[in-house]
Amino acid sequence: MCLDFLTMNYHFKFKDRESTVRIIQNIPTREEILSSFEEISSDNTPVLFVCDCHTKHIAERIRDGKGPPLCILEAGEKAKNLQSLEIILNAAKNAGFARDSLFIAVGGGVITDMTGFAASIYMRGAKLSFVSTTLLGMADAAVGGKTGIDYFERKNLAGTFYPAHSVYMPISVLRSLPPEQLKSGFAEIVKTLILDKESDDLSWEELKPLKDLLENGFENRTGSEKPNSASETQEQILERLVSVSVKIKGRIVEADPEETGEQRALLNLGHSFAHALESSAGLGVLSHGEAVAWGIVQSCVLGRILGITPESRARKISSLIKDLGYQSMAPHPAMQSIDAFMTALLDDKKKKNGVLRFIIPAERGAVLIRLDNKQIGLIQDIAAGACA
Ligand code: GLY
Repeated sequence: MCLDFLTMNYHFKFKDRESTVRIIQNIPTREEILSSFEEISSDNTPVLFVCDCHTKHIAERIRDGKGPPLCILEAGEKAKNLQSLEIILNAAKNAGFARDSLFIAVGGGVITDMTGFAASIYMRGAKLSFVSTTLLGMADAAVGGKTGIDYFERKNLAGTFYPAHSVYMPISVLRSLPPEQLKSGFAEIVKTLILDKESDDLSWEELKPLKDLLENGFENRTGSEKPNSASETQEQILERLVSVSVKIKGRIVEADPEETGEQRALLNLGHSFAHALESSAGLGVLSHGEAVAWGIVQSCVLGRILGITPESRARKISSLIKDLGYQSMAPHPAMQSIDAFMTALLDDKKKKNGVLRFIIPAERGAVLIRLDNKQIGLIQDIAAGACA
């Protein structure tokens, strides 16, 4: 990894593909995006913008009246399917795409994951750029090359590793996000900070003033007035945290780009508890980030019991998550029942070759552990609140 300090550009090498992440203030122009590809000669290269109804206005602004029509997909996880993938591939074919043509995804994780997948299989690999427009996308999905669609009711059952050549993160778009989306994305930032072996949790105190932002969103979300200084400060803190997350995630992915080792799996801190909670609450009831934040707290409880997470670190992480306004108590109020939670957890285990893997905060960073069948009761006790 290397970093241009002046521009906040991170350059990563993920296996044989290079990727530059640019954390910028405003939405990039079409020319800016095209110029990140040395071999693209501006107007002659077919370009396809892929967006959804929430990001159409951003894609239109970047397109600036030029190029083929936008490929506008339905918004949300429900649209992350084979039909949407086909729509993208058809649009590319109709736009006269060849291997050197460029897919530009403008949106959150669903849009970037699907466009990345389409680009990776179109003529065995076309050019790809992302403009990430959500905090969840910036903190996680847009970095590291995982692409995919949900299939047979399984998340990301079909997909590839195909990092975008350039990824733009225009921080000012975060202003218009509803607070639930900021809160959901922010949990992934907290997760990534915990994984950093070097940070010594340095930014903890800095995170707490963001509670109000996560509860209420930015003031003046429509952008009709000049932002006040409190909003500017919050935006600057978010910008710094996005930058730190990109750096930490990029480093982890560089070390284990296709999750063949144990490094990249660390990015699933809190996720085993979270997936079971999301399923047991009914899909869509809780945001992913809400569930991840709760899952991180339960991972601390598990780590404490197993003697992996020092008491003081477990307390620090759990109280930060609580102070930021996330639910930390077990059982989670949205959980329909402990039985439903355990059924979902064991179903997840079946899908993962029968192994229950958890990521646990350690003295620094986190470690991966595998639980045997005898320890499953412990997870049930933690989820039921019997170990707090
Ligand atoms: N979202 C986890 C990863 O990119 O590996």
